[in-house]
Amino acid sequence: MSERIPVWLDVDTGIDDAQAILAASRLPLDIRGISAVNGNVALAHTYENTRRVCALFRDTYTATHVHGADGLCGAPLPEPLRAPDTTPAWDALWQEAQRFPGELQVVATGPLTNLAIAFSKYPKLPSLLKRILIMGGGAAGGGVHGGNSTPAAEFNFFADPHAAQAVCKCGAPLVLCGLDVTMRAYLTPEEMDVITNCGSAAGRFFGQATAKNLQFHLEKGVPGLCLHDICPVLYLVYPEMFSGEEAGVYVETRGKYTFGKMVTDLWSDFQFPKKNAFVVLDVDRPAFVERVQTLLTSV
Ligand code: RIB
Ligand code: CA
Repeated sequence: MSERIPVWLDVDTGIDDAQAILAASRLPLDIRGISAVNGNVALAHTYENTRRVCALFRDTYTATHVHGADGLCGAPLPEPLRAPDTTPAWDALWQEAQRFPGELQVVATGPLTNLAIAFSKYPKLPSLLKRILIMGGGAAGGGVHGGNSTPAAEFNFFADPHAAQAVCKCGAPLVLCGLDVTMRAYLTPEEMDVITNCGSAAGRFFGQATAKNLQFHLEKGVPGLCLHDICPVLYLVYPEMFSGEEAGVYVETRGKYTFGKMVTDLWSDFQFPKKNAFVVLDVDRPAFVERVQTLLTSV
């Protein structure tokens, strides 16, 4: 059994964050903590959704206390298993990073607010982290691969551009899974049915949580449901499934039309002085589909 990778998840649990958490629970990862951030829905809901998704890790659960929860399209989730932990995310992450100096990897699938606060309060924190893997941004200029919240900006970066810029400048090794790759990381309706109909509680949750989101994608002309947040989780364990390039990456924090846009020198004559991120640009989709189906049908 390969060494379990110590990892911290920072999520704004909505639909794809939930699938990323479930996938992470089935990978050889030592999940040292999961923190919630305001994003897809308000923090109170992302926090509660995260606690309930974690309860799906159990083999079985009675559905008697099933409740819908905002941000997950009313999909049923069990009651949380653990008492609430109200330690601020930035303090908890700092504590854990000191337990695993140079080893802890952070996967961030929501706005980067928690990380930015952590780095501001604990300037040494980035130097303790092995890597930060982010779902956010998009390199390919305008259009859906550059922005899904505005014509220029992806949601996680647009929701807190100053935080995204602070993380880009923090000095820790970065892997950026932006819309360039996550819009290619989709499951078609037929590929989704394999998970929905697998018979597990997590499969039922997947089907109900993703139905509306799939419709939204199909109406936008996307061939299926993009699982944005699972990409950095899979990259951790299966980097060979992805491709990309080292580049300079920063975030616009003043532009009138470009506020929150990821700015990269991937293709420009002008090059930033430092290549501060590995920008993931593509995924082997057949391998992605097979892995996601395997992971989400075994929960
Ligand atoms: O742009 C996609 C990202 O915004 C995903 O992380 C999704 O969960 C939302 O947070
Ligand atoms: Ca998210």
